[in-house]
Amino acid sequence: MSIGEPQHRPPALVAEVLAANTSSWGKYPPANGPAELRQAVADWAGRRYDLPQGLIDPEKAILPVAGTREALYLIAQTVCGDREGQRPLVLMPNPFYQVYAGAAVMAGAEPVFVPGANGPASQPDFSTLPADLLDRTALAYVCSPANPQGSVADAALLERQVRTARDHGFVLAVDECYSEIWDKVPPPGVLKTCAALGEGLANVLMFNSLSKRSSVPGLRSGVVVGDERVIHAFARLRSYGGAATPLPIAAAAAALWRDEAHVTESNDLYRAKLDVAERVLGGRFGFYRPPGGFFLWLDVGDGEAAAVKLWQEGNIRVLPGAYLAAEDSEEGNPGSRFIRVALVHDLAGTEAALTRLASILGG
Ligand SMILES: Cc1ncc(COP(=O)(O)O)c(C=O)c1O
Repeated sequence: MSIGEPQHRPPALVAEVLAANTSSWGKYPPANGPAELRQAVADWAGRRYDLPQGLIDPEKAILPVAGTREALYLIAQTVCGDREGQRPLVLMPNPFYQVYAGAAVMAGAEPVFVPGANGPASQPDFSTLPADLLDRTALAYVCSPANPQGSVADAALLERQVRTARDHGFVLAVDECYSEIWDKVPPPGVLKTCAALGEGLANVLMFNSLSKRSSVPGLRSGVVVGDERVIHAFARLRSYGGAATPLPIAAAAAALWRDEAHVTESNDLYRAKLDVAERVLGGRFGFYRPPGGFFLWLDVGDGEAAAVKLWQEGNIRVLPGAYLAAEDSEEGNPGSRFIRVALVHDLAGTEAALTRLASILGG
């Protein structure tokens, strides 16, 4: 339960479409993906967020990528030029998905870890940061629903984040990889914010992936949608140093973005696991049902000690929260009290593991 690697059965259509497209293994794929895949993503986003016609030009505003991890990394290489002679800053939440920090450092920028506006399980609000810091910012990552806490940025917060990026001229990279795994209501998305604010997709990039939505982390298929100028520069960088999506995989990806039945089925299974988690852990370890994603973020006092104990005594592997966060000078490490538990296995296995976890950690 330490890695967020979806284990639900992949939809049968993946194998069918791959088999029907074997002849295209003999072709080099285009760096910006086939038009069919870009159109399938545009149609999905239009349906999912009720977007106005014309907001997304599938030719210019969509870039298929080989999973969003590489894209979240490479975007920093694309946009982190110096800011008026100063080393650029990259804003990110704390706790955070580790790739954001690696991306910032390897691009020669300085990572700035921004705590949650309402405690360690909440989203940061970049609009509250000092103007001189925002002027030095080249890139800011938002993760909603968040890995690891499952928190969701509401529409008002997304609007503030987009306005701040536009006012200070930086790129807002919104990682929505978990947007299709939700408990009670579908999380709002930044593309809808753009539609509401006007000015097209300026300064905004949305990252999404089939890894979580369709339980195919091995397919390595994700997408970036957003500001055409940034997408253009990004596509150029990727045409030299990125992996293009093979055509049979692109065909399977297009079919997945066009199908919602498998997403609903998978979501129901995640909800059933949350029901089990609530029954077994409710009232202990600061348990709450994450509004999005499939992680439990449990307050166990000392996350590292708890992870070792669970591994030694229960054969259960979880991730210490401190490994997903950075030291903050005032608060220490905001993840240190927590463990992250990925609910990616089947229902019976999840129930058995959570029951064992509760008995080992007491609480
Ligand atoms: C927050 C977040 N973003 C992005 C990714 C990358 O997913 P992929 O590269 O499979 O699209 C992950 C994977 O765990 C994640 O947790």
